Amino acid sequence: MKPIVFGGRNGEHLAVELAFMKGFDLGSVEVKKFPDGESYIRVMDDVQGRDVIYINSLQRDPNEAVVETLYTLDTLRDLGARRVVAVIPYMSYARQDSRFNPGEAVSIQILAKLFKTIKVDHIITVDMHLHRISDPSSLFGANFHNITGVRELGKYLRRNYDLTRPDTVVIGPDEEAEQWARVMAEELGGLEFSTLEKKRLTAEKVVIEAKGVNVKGKNVVIVDDIISTGGTIIEAVKALRSLGARDFYVATVHPLLVGDALPRLLRLGLKELVGTNTVLSPISRVSITPAIAEALDRIF
Ligand code: R5P
Repeated sequence: MKPIVFGGRNGEHLAVELAFMKGFDLGSVEVKKFPDGESYIRVMDDVQGRDVIYINSLQRDPNEAVVETLYTLDTLRDLGARRVVAVIPYMSYARQDSRFNPGEAVSIQILAKLFKTIKVDHIITVDMHLHRISDPSSLFGANFHNITGVRELGKYLRRNYDLTRPDTVVIGPDEEAEQWARVMAEELGGLEFSTLEKKRLTAEKVVIEAKGVNVKGKNVVIVDDIISTGGTIIEAVKALRSLGARDFYVATVHPLLVGDALPRLLRLGLKELVGTNTVLSPISRVSITPAIAEALDRIF
């Protein structure tokens, strides 16, 4: 029997696309609230003995999404699904992966423990912040697949713009973004790439230095995993502009765009600002579904 795919409230758009693309059955989960605010979950299809894919991003209201996701996955397991694949395009809490100040909760480890109790077979996630996690499979207790959305973003830029060497460089706004800058540069036909130096002062404020990068008169593609408050991109554009960079094309996998991030970014006069639909936003013009489908092909 073919797999059945379910979408949570932040993953329905992807479940529909995936079912259509792969010819999977599309299931439905009822999610509502009891009068006291508790979540109510009901799986509406028979999943006994079937391969099940459940898609939900842990964003918008991350705490709500965590409860919805864990309750649904456990229910699917309990109803006798044969294999359960959890697709969590945006894994929240991943940036709190260490005790940066005394007494802090190491949130991602707690979330991973909760996943581990459910014993899903596979977890597929997209460009998760794994800088301090060396073995996600044992942490989450599942075969862990951290795929990238940067290739899909690169294909989009290639289709829509003429970004060629030596007029264009790819920039990651901090050291950790080197991995994404490298993939983007490759996707755009072997462009040069480089990173900036970022120091985070608060959750909203960063300072960025662009030492030793040559962007004078060049187009710049900036790529990062997440745009949250927009502070990182705004400071990166300012630093690169002061060095004489020409036009900016900004791409991100997870466009969280909290608060007034979008209007602030639009005021920068960028040539392009694009994200994937791991989280839905006004700039989510690139679908992550083909990358998820490829990962599923490898699993099934
Ligand atoms: C940080 O490590 C991430 O890669 C992003 O650079 C960061 O989350 C962006 O946040 P913001 O848009 O608030 O500067």
